[in-house]
Amino acid sequence: MERTLILLKPDCVQRRLMGAVISRFENKGLNIIAMKMLQVTPELAKQHYAEHVSKPFYPGLEKFITGAPVVALVLEGLEVIRVVRDILGATSGLKAAAGTIRGDYSSSRQMNLVHASDGPEAAAREIALYFQANELCGYTPTLVEWLKAEDE
Ligand code: CMP
Repeated sequence: MERTLILLKPDCVQRRLMGAVISRFENKGLNIIAMKMLQVTPELAKQHYAEHVSKPFYPGLEKFITGAPVVALVLEGLEVIRVVRDILGATSGLKAAAGTIRGDYSSSRQMNLVHASDGPEAAAREIALYFQANELCGYTPTLVEWLKAEDE
C-alpha cells in the first residue's frame, strides 16, 4: 500500500468542486485516511513548493495557494501516487486529456484544482507538512473483498 498527499486548491474550494473531486477518488476505490481544511500560509507555501521558490511563476503561485482555504487529504491505495496523477491529468488544464479531473474542469496551468505528490519521497515529506502521525486514520474498508482480488 502507498500513500499520497492531495490538496484541493483554492480554486477547487471556491468553485464548489470539492465533492466532485473527492467522489472520483472514492469511486476509484482509494481510501481517504486523513482530511482537513486549512489556510496555507506563505511559510507553508514555501516549504511545500520548495523546488519552485526560485522560479518566475512562484510569486503568483504563492498568492494563489494562500488566497483561500485548501483541503488536504491523504489517500491510500495500491500504486496510489501514479494512479492519482493519472486521474488528475497533465499539469495544465489546457493540455490535460478529457476524462481527467483537470481535463474536465480546468482551463489553466496555475489554477489546476488539485495537487498530488509526484513520488514516494515527496509524498512522505508533504504528508508530514500537513498532518501529524496521529491524524492518519488507516483502516480496512468493509467492502475490500469487492475492490480487488486477494492476491492483488
Ligand atoms: P502542482 O501540481 O501543485 O505543482 C506546482 C504548481 O505550480 C502546479 O501544480 C501549478 O499550479 C503551478 N505551476 C506549474 N508550472 C507553472 C507555470 N509555468 N506557471 C504558473 N504556475 C505553474
